[in-house]
Amino acid sequence: MGAALETRPLHPLLGVEIVGVDVRRVDADVFERIVGAFDEHSVLLFRGQRLDDEAQIAFSRRFGPLETTIRTVVSQTRYRQEISNLANVDADDRLIPAGDTRNLFNAGNQMWHTDSSFKRVPALASLLSGREVPPEGGETEFASMRVAYERLPDATRRFLEDKVAIHSFEYSRGLVGEGLLSPEYAAQVPPVPQALVRANPAHGRKAFFVASHACEIVGMPTDEARALLRDLLARATAPELVYTHRWRPGDLAMWDNRCVLHRGRPWNESRYRRVMHRTTVAGDGPTAPDVAEVAVAPAREADVAWCRTQLETA
Ligand code: OGA
Ligand code: MN
Repeated sequence: MGAALETRPLHPLLGVEIVGVDVRRVDADVFERIVGAFDEHSVLLFRGQRLDDEAQIAFSRRFGPLETTIRTVVSQTRYRQEISNLANVDADDRLIPAGDTRNLFNAGNQMWHTDSSFKRVPALASLLSGREVPPEGGETEFASMRVAYERLPDATRRFLEDKVAIHSFEYSRGLVGEGLLSPEYAAQVPPVPQALVRANPAHGRKAFFVASHACEIVGMPTDEARALLRDLLARATAPELVYTHRWRPGDLAMWDNRCVLHRGRPWNESRYRRVMHRTTVAGDGPTAPDVAEVAVAPAREADVAWCRTQLETA
């Protein structure tokens, strides 16, 4: 193999910037090192990338097959199915008015989550390309569920082992606002089971696996399960553990959805454009066996209150 990758830490606990790589021109040797850095550091940043959708898709595909988007209120048919368009501008390139449902829908991304954990096979990786970024606000924050897992008391780790959580997109979007999801859309994303502890197959290091979408634990009363899930989220996202990414145009951030939580931060949406294109690398299989019972209890006051703390403008 050739020379090592040049990297710079983004945060003491997770993430590195990969320096001097144009993701449109990566040979097999460098690619292998990028995969190694991904498994090790969980968040990768490539700056100054001149990416169009084709190039983003081509690079992303090297990590595995891509998810295609489920069409939502915000999606725009002018993009390829592999592109999730996170933008506060409409198909005619005009700013979407503040408070519009389309922006509210994106606001769900401001709760800590991991991508596609509400799908039977959750995502392996997401690659987010900053096409137009606001001069202030609109950061993306990352936190490691592997670091947090390793800091748990032994007894808690033993308790979590082999537990299965239920994740539901209808539940998490329901916290933001009633009726955000159409019944047709909700029918496409029924609640799914996910292992509560996952190990990276490359090196065996474990992480817990929670998200805004996690709403039940199989075999536990709802209130107890939600309190535990919130506690795990809070442990992982303690301020000193969080890497805050301030976007520059041309940034491409990539993260490991198996062990990293992320969330978007608010910005002045009525003033600044923010256009981000995401590609999502599919996972390689379910994380938990099927379960017979996947009932999700309605959100309680404590659940909605938690959502409010997440959406508060900082
Ligand atoms: C995502 C996401 C947050 C942001 O792209 O999956 O959650 O900062 N983005 O836009
Ligand atoms: Mn996301």
